[in-house]
Amino acid sequence: MASSLDNNKDLIKAVSNEVKQQFTGEGSGHDWWHIYRVWQMSRHLSKHYPKADSFTIELAALTHDMADHKLMDHPEEGEKEIENLLKKHDLSSATVDKVLHIVQNISFKGAKVEEKMGSLEGKIVQDADRLDAIGAIGVARTFAYGGSKHHELYNPEIPVEQHDNFEKYKRSTAPTINHFYEKLLLLKDRMNTEAAHSIARERHAFMEQFLERFYEEWEGRK
Ligand code: NI
Repeated sequence: MASSLDNNKDLIKAVSNEVKQQFTGEGSGHDWWHIYRVWQMSRHLSKHYPKADSFTIELAALTHDMADHKLMDHPEEGEKEIENLLKKHDLSSATVDKVLHIVQNISFKGAKVEEKMGSLEGKIVQDADRLDAIGAIGVARTFAYGGSKHHELYNPEIPVEQHDNFEKYKRSTAPTINHFYEKLLLLKDRMNTEAAHSIARERHAFMEQFLERFYEEWEGRK
């Protein structure tokens, strides 16, 4: 007889295949391989927290971008899709609710906007998602996203803003370099778990080096 653990593994595999199909070829840095990295990092972080429910973590990591405000105008339609996908695999409403809570609260909504992630599982997936926004991969993804929105790489005449509400943050058309100060460099101190914080410190230092070098090249000094 198959154990429930085996069933869970098959189910995760089935969900990952469906998500992979949906996100393959996406060009703004939110493609399948972003989801894959967040999934693997979530699994890695969850090993430090044996009390966390790894099944919920994996499902939330796999579906976390299906209702992202950056990628769609109506995130509630994405949430409905997640619900349909999970219910199709006979998951209980309790599990579906836990996953939806995580997906709804995962994204960064502005430097001065308060965050409300309630569950340990959510904190772990959020950390994994944020780790993928910093370091070398973070730099690559940020410019890919900025390019997809036709933002300039950098414009020294446009000052950095600390957004105090989500609408302003979402509507920003500032150059990509500003995004480092409006979000990426803030993430190190917003990690929920110590395991993620220690990875974030190194990735953060790399971004600072990158920026220093960027300004030197900009002025023809290197
Ligand atoms: Ni993401």
